[in-house]
Amino acid sequence: MSFSRHVFGAVQRRAFSASTRSNSKVAVLGASGGIGQPLSLLLKLNPRVSELALYDVRGGPGVAADISHINTKSTVKGYDPTPSGLKECLTGAEIVLIPAGVPRKPGMTRDDLFNTNASIVRDLAKACADAAPEANILIISNPVNSTVPITAEVFKSKGVYNPKRLFGVTTLDVVRASRFISQLKGTDPANENITVVGGHSGATIVPLLSQSGYELKGDQLDEYIHRVQFGGDEVVQAKGGAGSATLSMAMAGARFAESLLKAAQGEKGVIEPTFVDSPLYKDQGCDFFASNVELGPNGVEKIHPVGKITPHEQKLLDVCLKDLAGNIKKGVAFAKENP
Ligand code: NAI
Repeated sequence: MSFSRHVFGAVQRRAFSASTRSNSKVAVLGASGGIGQPLSLLLKLNPRVSELALYDVRGGPGVAADISHINTKSTVKGYDPTPSGLKECLTGAEIVLIPAGVPRKPGMTRDDLFNTNASIVRDLAKACADAAPEANILIISNPVNSTVPITAEVFKSKGVYNPKRLFGVTTLDVVRASRFISQLKGTDPANENITVVGGHSGATIVPLLSQSGYELKGDQLDEYIHRVQFGGDEVVQAKGGAGSATLSMAMAGARFAESLLKAAQGEKGVIEPTFVDSPLYKDQGCDFFASNVELGPNGVEKIHPVGKITPHEQKLLDVCLKDLAGNIKKGVAFAKENP
């Protein structure tokens, strides 16, 4: 290796380690669950995370003790629901991921989870608004189409709502859309990045295949769209009542957290699809909408419009908007009626 390359390499290494040394506390609420455990594991492997705080109503300290033995630099601490446990877990967090709540069983829609998960997310959102009002809040608990508006209402009621810091995690829909097209086309899924817009359940999930230059027709197109919209059901059925997607979801959640950390640490052009407070379809009753979003140090940097779509995709979008408006309204009403 020449001297100049050697010096350049050393400078690069220093720059890298300086950025990775920056203080990034990440909290996971629901850390002992099917998603929470592998998600926490992946975050422990991420050199951008300096401190990992794991909370659950049961078993947080056990998961933390296990993960803390992994030989990466970050510190790990688990928290129980003691009077101060959740508060300590959240204080100083830059990112809070929330996969707390019950998952689906065969035959259930995500909306069937509303009655249980709405109050879980509301209560955790209250704790976040009090202890980490400036953190990026990443909602994984379903139904995301309603739990994100619930979180927004809680933050508004406490006077700390920042629409740039609240994200519904829809990354798994893009991961699936990209994997499924690669299976049809024989391409490398790592190079696919299918745009998916709308929300995160059934017909509200709208893959925009045309924007990647693909043209499927007839049954093949219908089957592809159905598989992206109802891919979660494949996992729920295969697990036969033992839960829904956990491992692929953990990967998707860790990817989204990594993108936020990259953007916070100065990387430009970091774009992820996510369900955010969005101007795109507010006039149709959808105060929240998932589209590609550029991330930055302040959270949401730029919300990309849906862009050019085919008449068929427009039809899917019309159905999506109708369903989504209802899901959002339901979340807002719950938060207002059950403060
Ligand atoms: P799980 O039942 O395995 O784990 C949930 C965890 O949350 C449990 O450890 C439980 O003790 C904990 N928990 C319950 N109430 C809590 C509270 N008040 N505070 C803290 N922790 C609490 O469920 P799993 O499979 O991990 O799924 C979690 C959620 O994620 C479900 O709502 C599921 O529908 C959703 N999900 C979202 C996806 C997405 O793409 N956004 C994909 C797959 C699942």
